[in-house]
Amino acid sequence: MGAADVMDVLELEQSCYRFPWSEQVFRDCLRVGYDCWVVDSGDIVSGYGIMSMGAGECHVLNLCIDPSLRRRGAGRALLLKLLRRARDAGMEHAFLEVRPSNPAAIALYRGVGFEPIGLRRGYYQAEGGREDAMVLRLELAQLPGF
Ligand SMILES: CC(C)(COP(=O)(O)OP(=O)(O)OC[C@H]1O[C@@H](n2cnc3c(N)ncnc32)[C@H](O)[C@@H]1OP(=O)(O)O)[C@@H](O)C(=O)NCCC(=O)NCCS
Repeated sequence: MGAADVMDVLELEQSCYRFPWSEQVFRDCLRVGYDCWVVDSGDIVSGYGIMSMGAGECHVLNLCIDPSLRRRGAGRALLLKLLRRARDAGMEHAFLEVRPSNPAAIALYRGVGFEPIGLRRGYYQAEGGREDAMVLRLELAQLPGF
């Protein structure tokens, strides 16, 4: 992902999430050097993933695939790309938060080996209040395919 992709990424973000990240958040992710990738299908941004790394841990911060391309393996491929980059950079564990109301994402994460380790109470904005986050962790040595 480069600065030129941000508006396309933002459009997809706004169409996929009820409480989307702002343009500034994406620009800040690029500015601070997070690992930011787009799925590019013929000049169209059809997905993106963002991850931070540091102190032996990576954190998957956002992962999104265009609705018209879902259930074809793109989400898993992008997630595995991020996690393998983290492992190759020397990270030992991966963490992420997910809404309990997001069964597709939970199935994706559990499918690559993430395990729930706790809840963050009221972590997310939600209709009429807040929603907890499930915290998931993966030991990167357990990554499938290697
Ligand atoms: C979560 C998301 C990234 C998955 O992307 P995707 O490209 O459809 O995922 P894949 O095709 O790689 O699916 C991998 C596995 O995830 C699970 N999965 C994906 N979508 C699912 C769904 N709708 N219902 C149940 N399981 C699902 C399945 O286990 C699937 O494996 P299978 O197809 O062999 O059964 C996508 O649904 C998305 O962008 N959602 C909106 C944004 C979002 O919620 N991101 C996560 C925030 S934490």
